[in-house]
Parts: sequence; C-alpha cells; structure tokens
Amino acid sequence: MENFVFHNPVKILFGKGQIANIGAEIPADAKILITYGGGSIKANGVYDQVKSALAGRDVLEFGGIEPNPHFETLMKAVELVRKEGIDFLLAVGGGSVADGTKFIAAAVPFEGDPWDILAKQATVTKAVPLGVVLTLPATGSEMNVNAVVTKAATQEKLYFGSSAVYPRFSVLDPETTFSLPTRQISNGIVDAYTHVMEQYLTFPVNAPLQDRMAESILKTLIEEGPKTLANPTDYDARANFMWSATMALNGLIGAGVPQDWVTHMIGHELTALHGLDHAQTLAIVLPSTLTVRRKGKWEKLLQYGERVWGIVTGTEEERVEQAIAKTRDFFESVGVPTRLGAYGVGLESIPVIQARFEQRGMVALGEKQDVNPQVVEQILSLCA
Ligand code: NZQ
Ligand code: ZN
Repeated sequence: MENFVFHNPVKILFGKGQIANIGAEIPADAKILITYGGGSIKANGVYDQVKSALAGRDVLEFGGIEPNPHFETLMKAVELVRKEGIDFLLAVGGGSVADGTKFIAAAVPFEGDPWDILAKQATVTKAVPLGVVLTLPATGSEMNVNAVVTKAATQEKLYFGSSAVYPRFSVLDPETTFSLPTRQISNGIVDAYTHVMEQYLTFPVNAPLQDRMAESILKTLIEEGPKTLANPTDYDARANFMWSATMALNGLIGAGVPQDWVTHMIGHELTALHGLDHAQTLAIVLPSTLTVRRKGKWEKLLQYGERVWGIVTGTEEERVEQAIAKTRDFFESVGVPTRLGAYGVGLESIPVIQARFEQRGMVALGEKQDVNPQVVEQILSLCA
C-alpha cells in the first residue's frame, strides 16, 4: 500500500427530515447566501424546507447556477458575496451547485484573477465556509474537495481541489431526490460507478481493504441502481444509492492506492465541446479506456470480472473482454448510451482534444503516467 494522509472533516446529516437541522450547523450571526440552480428546489419543496429551517436568520439568495456551472455566472455571485459581506454559503442542489459554490467560496478571498484557480491551479488557502443540501446523488462533491467549472466563452471545463472548500456539513436526505428525472438518476449511477473505477481499476498494490470497499460500492450500485430507477420513491433503494455515491468519491477508497482519472479528463472535454452530460461522457469513454489500456490494467480487470461480475471461466483474454463488455452493458442497462453516435456526435473533435491535452501539459496521465495525447486519440477513436 502507498503512504497516505486521510482527513475528511465533512459532517454528514443523513436521512429524511434532516434539512430541519441545518440551523444549528451554521453560526448564529452568519449572513447566509443560499445558492441554487434552475429552480428544481422550488418545485420539489426543498427550498421551502431550507427557508423554514433558516427562519429568522439573515439570508440572501443566488439562483441560476447552470449544470456544468459557468465561471461567468459564478463570478456574479462572487461580486454579491463581497458586496453584501456574506459569511456563509449554503449550496442547495446537485453537483453543479455544490461545485459552483465551492468555487465562489474560494474566489471571494482570492487575490488576483479567480480563473487562475482553475487554469493555473493557483493555491487556494482561504475560502468562505460552506454547507451543502444535496439533491442529486452522483458527484461526491458533498464530501470532497473538488469542483469543476466551465468557462462558457472558451468552452473550457477545468477543476480545482482544496481542503479549504470541504463543506462544513452536507445534508443527504434521500427524499429530496424523489423528484429527479430518470436521466439524472441514470447519470448518477454511472458517475458514481466510474468514480470507483478510476480509483480501483488500476494495478494491484496489495490493498485488499480498499479493493473490497470499492467492489462493494460497485456491487451495491449494480443492485440498487435498477431498483431506484424502477421505483423512484423507494426510500431504501434511494438511500443506499445516495450513500454509495457519496462513498465513491470522499477520498476513502482512493487512499493508499494508485488512481487513474483519464476517463474523467477526456469526458470533461466532451462536455465542454459538445454539451454532453458529465455521466454520458463517462459511459462513452470508460469502456474504450479499459480496452485500449487493458494490458496495464490486466490483473485488476481479471479481479473485477471475477468479484464484481462472477466471470470465472474462459481464457484470461476472454475474461478481460467480458469484464469490459459487462461494464458497457451495465451503463446501457441503466439508460446511458455508450457510443458517441447515440448522441449525434462524431469524431471531429479528436484533434482539438488532443491539442488541448498537449497545450496543458497533460502528457503523462493515468496510474502509470503512460497516457499521452496519442493514447487519448486511440481511446476516442474507439468511442464512435
Ligand atoms: O438546476 P436545477 O433546477 O436544480 O436542476 C438540476 C439540473 O438540471 C437537476 N436536479 C438536481 N436535483 C434535482 C434536480 N431535478 C429534480 N429534482 C432534484 N432533486 O438535475 C440537473 C443536473 O444537475 P447537476 O448538478 O448538473 O448534476 P450532477 O450532480 O450530476 O453534477 C454534475 C457536475 O458535477 C461535476 C461534473 O463535471 C458536472 O459539472 N463533477 C464534480 C465532481 C466533484 N466535485 O467531485 C466529480 C465529478 O466527476 C464531476 O466531474
Ligand atoms: Zn464524475
């Protein structure tokens, strides 16, 4: 196992009715800014629950944070926070609202151009404190340090991570997810699954506990995902799905093991250039990345095939192939197509993506730092 430091300070308030308890988590004299997206929280009653939990408190609002949150929009919130002297941010929504709010939190005290936080990975040491009321299980943003932001003007989707933007608390009430459209549940299953794969499907380092935790999240997603799609108000299925998605990317399963993240890096480009949902890009790219890089991932592919999918017969080649096919079939079965063509996208952006990887110096990616822009091109060529 590799050395690691693990410190996750996010307090989780899990279960029905927990929004009512957020008042106690926010300093009594705080001037609070509630941030949200396009209005789903007003339609499903979450907004009302938040407002009543904060009755009598000093509260302002900033809505309109779009999916794949825009730098341009977030900078308007930064101005508002600075002008109003806001001292606590409460993100109410999915990963985009949580990520957008983390960026706002980091940008407010940042000296210089906040775009540098993303484009130059400028160090973030301070942030406005924030909390999250999560309404979409998928990204793990509610319990991690990451945020992904898009500059609409240049179609660039970039991430940053800083322990300064760990939420102080996150509320995970499965009932808030009952109103999600099927597409977003499907997306959440694929995103969480891929987060596990990015941290698990690499090469063995004798870390059996991390492996088994990862496999148990995958198996739970395989069991609970279809249940929660079939019956959106099955509380238990949704609770199990929600907790799986959080555990998939809160740092625990990735501690002490190599990590990949090439699928995500390529996926972000497909979202930036073609507007595909984040999880749609992962469903397209992951099977191809496993195929192109199967030699380096051989032992873990065999282990994954056996422990997660029960593949124990055939030659090693056949078992590896089946494990990848099972992954693709699972994504398709939960309603997320795995080919670019299914979204009406061709291979025309491959040279652009390749050039962007070069320009950003992303020439040695993956768990073995052997993924250069040529390998990215091979992976994308298989996505048609
Ligand atoms: O904007 P509103 O009206 O709230 O509607 C949203 C949005 O249209 C809707 N929605 C959310 N909760 C709902 C709901 N509709 C009905 N009922 C509810 N309870 O769902 C739509 C999608 O929301 P969004 O927040 O964009 O989805 P998701 O949570 O999948 O977040 C995706 C973003 O997170 C980033 C992605 O790149 C993408 O920008 N990621 C963040 C990560 C992280 N912070 O660690 C890791 C991930 O790999 C990912 O990159
Ligand atoms: Zn993701």
